Amino acid sequence: MADKLVLAYSGGLDTSVAIRWLAQKYDLRVITLTVDIGNVPDLEATRQKALKVGAIKALVVDAKETFVKSYVFPALQADAVYEGQYPLSTALGRPLIVRLLVEAARNEKAKVIAHGCTAKGNDQVRIDVGVAALAPELKIIAPAREWKMTREQTIRYAQAHHIPVPVTKASPYSIDENLWGRGIECGVLEDTWNEPPEDAFLWTRPPEKTPARPAHLEIDFEKGIPVGLNGRKVEPVTLVQKVHELAGRHGVGRIDHVENRLVGIKSREVYEAPAAVVLLKAHQALEDLVLTKDQLRFKAKVAVEYADLVYNGLWFTGMRQDMAAYVESTQRYVTGTIRVRLFKGNCQVVARKSPYSLYTYSLATYDKGDVFDHSASPGFIHIWGLPVRTQARVQRGPVE
Ligand code: ARG
Repeated sequence: MADKLVLAYSGGLDTSVAIRWLAQKYDLRVITLTVDIGNVPDLEATRQKALKVGAIKALVVDAKETFVKSYVFPALQADAVYEGQYPLSTALGRPLIVRLLVEAARNEKAKVIAHGCTAKGNDQVRIDVGVAALAPELKIIAPAREWKMTREQTIRYAQAHHIPVPVTKASPYSIDENLWGRGIECGVLEDTWNEPPEDAFLWTRPPEKTPARPAHLEIDFEKGIPVGLNGRKVEPVTLVQKVHELAGRHGVGRIDHVENRLVGIKSREVYEAPAAVVLLKAHQALEDLVLTKDQLRFKAKVAVEYADLVYNGLWFTGMRQDMAAYVESTQRYVTGTIRVRLFKGNCQVVARKSPYSLYTYSLATYDKGDVFDHSASPGFIHIWGLPVRTQARVQRGPVE
């Protein structure tokens, strides 16, 4: 009997065509795995479609909770944002999909893993390198990297093999979405001089269509993890969905990024990430309150490294494990509440509190109750300015 293969299956045209193409070209029995991290509206329908197209078995996993708890929240604690703009939604989903693919391959005694990524993206790297880390014995096949079919040809292939092609007018964009964000690329967006048309957006309203009055939202954090909204405890997945809903309605979370891909290409990527934008902002505002200046500055450097590592497909490495341990340690006192104001596409932090706040009123105030020792300042400045005065004296006159 032919060997088995596990294919990461989204239910879309490309991976549907891949089921048939792999079976034909490689004489393998195809098992599909569909992972829902907030991107699959109907798991059962997707399962049925895989079977109909020719999979010998169709596995589905609802991994939303694992995604949020083990991938999204650790990245939030790290303040991981790629190139200061992209909250890494797609990039964070890949290692989880890899883990589940490897698990399925082992359970099913499959020797091959297949995925629908193309040769120009980051995702192929994330999946191939992830599999190499977790299960180096598995072979990888990426049909879309091999078959050299244009979109038209893929559709013709599908029609010839009775694979259902979406009847709705195909989206002019390439889209990837999960609970942490929605990435939109291709089509008119490939010209950087084109403003993203309104039809690129699905999760966020344009400012002219948002409510006329602002909304306020209070987010409770415990050790850097959001645990409640407006004073009520909320489960991780629901919390992200609720923030998403409210922020999207107020037009918060649109990102337009010329991004540096790992494969060397600059690409124009548009994102909608309402929950990520709000939660990252709130989390950082809380850190501003409870971490010292040194802790904040060092952590910001780590955040850049951490984001690069996630983006570049290095989740399953000792380096990430070490950085994650550092990040977790920094979150010991990141407990408290942040109030944000959502209005016309903006998310503003307007209030913050924490039992561990280092902000000390009696030191900061200019009013009554000031305990700052004013008489100590001249002495401090005398010492602080010592090297400046020395240089000015020895090297003649002030430096321009
Ligand atoms: N550029 C992002 C990344 O590499 C997102 C890609 C999203 N994919 C898409 N087809 N829109 O992580």
